[in-house]
Amino acid sequence: MILVTGATGTVGRAVVDQLLATGATVRATTRNPATADLPAAVDVVRADLGDPTGLPAALDGVEQVFLLSGGPELPVHDGNLARAAARAGVDRIVKLSVGRAGDPTATDPIPSWHRAGEQAVIDSGLAWTFLRPLGFMSNALHWAPTIRATGTVHAAFGDGRIAVVDPLDIAAVAATVLTTPGHEGRVHTLSGPEPLSAPEQTEILAEVLGRPLRYVEVSPEASRQAILDHGVPAGLADAIMALRATALYEFTSVVHATVEEVTGSPARSFRDWALRHRASF
Ligand SMILES: NC(=O)c1ccc[n+]([C@@H]2O[C@H](COP(=O)([O-])OP(=O)(O)OC[C@H]3O[C@@H](n4cnc5c(N)ncnc54)[C@H](OP(=O)(O)O)[C@@H]3O)[C@@H](O)[C@H]2O)c1
Repeated sequence: MILVTGATGTVGRAVVDQLLATGATVRATTRNPATADLPAAVDVVRADLGDPTGLPAALDGVEQVFLLSGGPELPVHDGNLARAAARAGVDRIVKLSVGRAGDPTATDPIPSWHRAGEQAVIDSGLAWTFLRPLGFMSNALHWAPTIRATGTVHAAFGDGRIAVVDPLDIAAVAATVLTTPGHEGRVHTLSGPEPLSAPEQTEILAEVLGRPLRYVEVSPEASRQAILDHGVPAGLADAIMALRATALYEFTSVVHATVEEVTGSPARSFRDWALRHRASF
């Protein structure tokens, strides 16, 4: 059995669907089973990664874990899960991390949280695989309110390029790694097929939506406020802004062939992602 944590989120839902498509037996954790809305074939259990008391029941009979958490408590969550998994006799943890977690000079919060989380997984003594995606294509959903209201995209750091990756491809890699041998002890850095700036993503969205859109460069403070308006807590908004500033670094514009190497299918384009999410804009 494979346990998927973060199963109600962007990546986790897709991991669940793709695992079910392989015929795997899937259990999923959520803090709110009543609203989880997961497929009927999934064994849904209530668990909070911040509360280790519920984890033994969630891990009973589990061979592999897809580990996904977020926010400042991420190192605590990963440590709780890793220790409980070791006690439960789990074989391997596949952790969703972040692109620069392996770079010790990346000291902004999100890579630092994930670096600590990866270390907790290593310290558990279990086999592991780390997936380190660059920015998600789905971050463009943050632009939907101003696109709908005024046909504009408000973003900061427009000079930077990120080889954004489709969450479906992250999930495809996760499902492959969880169901085929040979990925133990490996780090997979995941990108999309081309580096794109926010103005370039705006152009692609305009083509897909069939109406003109205008890119408006805003200050990092205004961009932070937009994230807050999206319902993201302040600590996480600060961490996201620090990560976004790194779009100006070379690292984020490097294209990695990993999605195709692992899954056998080329990484999906931002245009593909936009076509699937037209209704949101
Ligand atoms: N966005 C990016 O550009 C980007 C890039 C690289 C890496 N990442 C990483 O990707 C992860 C976020 O993935 P996502 O966008 O798919 O997530 P998401 O849509 O924000 O969903 C978060 C998931 O985490 C679960 N969760 C949160 N707190 C929990 C807790 N205390 N106990 C158990 N589960 C908890 C939620 O489950 P319930 O609410 O159902 O309990 C939910 O399923 C983060 O680790 C982030 O650092 C993001």
